[in-house]
Amino acid sequence: MNLNELKKKAAWAALDYICPGTVIGVGTGSTVFYFIQALSTVKNLISGAVSSSNSSTFLLKKNGIEVLDLNTFDSLEIYVDSADEINNAMQMIKGGGAALTREKIIAAMSKKFICIIDESKKVNILGTFPLPIEIIPMAISYISKEILKIGGQPKLRENIITDNGNIIIDVYNLYIHDPISIEKKINSLPGVVSVGLFASRVADIVLIGTQKGVKIINN
Ligand code: 5RP
Repeated sequence: MNLNELKKKAAWAALDYICPGTVIGVGTGSTVFYFIQALSTVKNLISGAVSSSNSSTFLLKKNGIEVLDLNTFDSLEIYVDSADEINNAMQMIKGGGAALTREKIIAAMSKKFICIIDESKKVNILGTFPLPIEIIPMAISYISKEILKIGGQPKLRENIITDNGNIIIDVYNLYIHDPISIEKKINSLPGVVSVGLFASRVADIVLIGTQKGVKIINN
């Protein structure tokens, strides 16, 4: 099986966690593309979805799933999304699809974060995948210098404006041994909108598409 088939397996396995009558938080990316297809098969059982990006909103609507405003809820039962990397503590790097800020907001408001990945995303130390940071454009010079001080190599992601009208810096070669302190440090820099390090809010359940089937890890 190739990686896309493994993503699809993990995505369809997330259907087991959908409770009738609930609103589902939906992430962004190629794995979530399969999840939205799966979700469309039970769309009459759910009350709709909250979306983490314009691209997922488009796909949800195309599949006949109603998209609702997050601000009309106090919390969501579940949030289903993928990750670029995940470690043994279920901490993640996310934002390869530039949707990290909205993903972080929905994850924070959800009782359960269900992370759907193919087996290539599992790592011991986060940081081989460049860490995305959404920033306000005028802060690029300042934030780049601060990132160099903590040992990372910042690079502006070309030709990307986020759904929130900001830009993304990807940080290369930053091997993250203490994810919580790095998340706090980067979050505290003026001009940072959010960092794609999900270290405090970890996944609750990870569904991993492997060659032997879907492996489930519960936090
Ligand atoms: C988007 C994300 C995605 O979850 C992450 O990039 C993984 O994407 P894919 O499912 O395409 O591998 O964080 O901002």
